[in-house]
Amino acid sequence: MTTTPIVLLHAFPLDHRMWGDVAADLGTTHRVLAPDLPVAADEPLPDPALEHAADHVAAVIRSAGYGPAVVAGLSMGGYVALALLERHPELVAGLALVDTKSTADTPEAAAKRRAVADDVQAAGTVDPVRGMPEVLLGETTRSARPDVVERVTAWIGEQDPARVAWAQRAMAARPDRTDVLAEFRGPVVVVVGDEDQVTGVDSAEHMTAAVDQALLVVVPRVGHLSAVEDPAAVRTALAELLQRVHEPSS
Ligand code: MLT
Repeated sequence: MTTTPIVLLHAFPLDHRMWGDVAADLGTTHRVLAPDLPVAADEPLPDPALEHAADHVAAVIRSAGYGPAVVAGLSMGGYVALALLERHPELVAGLALVDTKSTADTPEAAAKRRAVADDVQAAGTVDPVRGMPEVLLGETTRSARPDVVERVTAWIGEQDPARVAWAQRAMAARPDRTDVLAEFRGPVVVVVGDEDQVTGVDSAEHMTAAVDQALLVVVPRVGHLSAVEDPAAVRTALAELLQRVHEPSS
């Protein structure tokens, strides 16, 4: 096992299982943590703010006895990774920002999220977000890989409506953290699927431009869930990032 652990932070409205293929592969050579957000399933929900999720991740890293880690966040996981970097910079040795962005929501987007949260809460089910595979998965995956569509749909159906509403409200409240990213001195990789309709190549290029040490990896024929749609490509990007952490001059 190499020394630096890797922490995998999941997207919305999903849980740690979305990292399963990447974690299984990386787990043969690295210590891997993939916590559920914002807190463990049996813990009460805090106020809806991603900072609480970041503090939870910090506690998970510390309670595992780990020091600085490579932190990889996909979409909402990336928002949490940047909050972790702001609040607990000593825990972040390298950063992978996967299908995500560093900017805040527009007022319209934030209002839409709060409306979805209200709908989920009123329904008491995840019905208002059940159709999300249509936007989360790339066109190629949706047309050619029904098994992946089925898997993601099943994961969404198994989420707790209270946590889904929590996440929408917390994401709506997040600030722009481009400045936090710009101040980071460790290695960064930005990964994006070229069919990502949620946080596309523009968002990835914006983050890459913000920081000196960033590499950009565009994964062909995948959408917003690159770690599910092409786990080998994401695993390779993460392994290279770990290598850069271990050999800073390379
Ligand atoms: C996610 O994949 O985590 C969400 O699509 C993020 C978002 O809604 O901004």
